[in-house]
Amino acid sequence: MVTRTRQGQTKAAQGASRSSTRAVLVIHGPNLNLLGTREPEIYGRTTLAEIDRQIVELGRELGIEVETFQSNSEGEIVDRIQNARARIDVLIINPAAYTHTSVAIRDVIGAVEVPAIEVHLSNVHKREVFRHHSTIADIVEGRIMGFGAEGYLLALRAASRLIGAKRKNP
Ligand code: DQA
Repeated sequence: MVTRTRQGQTKAAQGASRSSTRAVLVIHGPNLNLLGTREPEIYGRTTLAEIDRQIVELGRELGIEVETFQSNSEGEIVDRIQNARARIDVLIINPAAYTHTSVAIRDVIGAVEVPAIEVHLSNVHKREVFRHHSTIADIVEGRIMGFGAEGYLLALRAASRLIGAKRKNP
């Protein structure tokens, strides 16, 4: 019997396509397109374009192909995660305001079975109480918050280690 993976690929085909490439999808949620000018005392002055440039550059050093995506729309974020699942090893996500409300983003992370890392620029626990709850906190591999833009780079290093560990013990 041919074993089909969640992408509908055979296991052998998936193994072949993933054997050398390491790929990570980085998702930025709503209003993060405004980074640089949005409440800089909380989120810093680094623009999203600069953050993405740094992530892609570190990816190159670590031998990881990085895709980045920003959307203000919950449905687009869900679609992007669904569509990427065949080609990515780890998902890094800052769901921004959807962190605190979205069952749809929690469900898609559970559904695609790709290890995920949650990132926040600010330490949400130092802020308003409504930001303390995350719908994904208990299903991600880990959470990085409070280190501004550097959090994404820390997350990518963690992703690299996760991929390495998984390849040794699939
Ligand atoms: C954020 C924290 C969220 O509470 C907020 O809604 C954001 C950004 C952060 O990166 O610190 O938009 O996810």
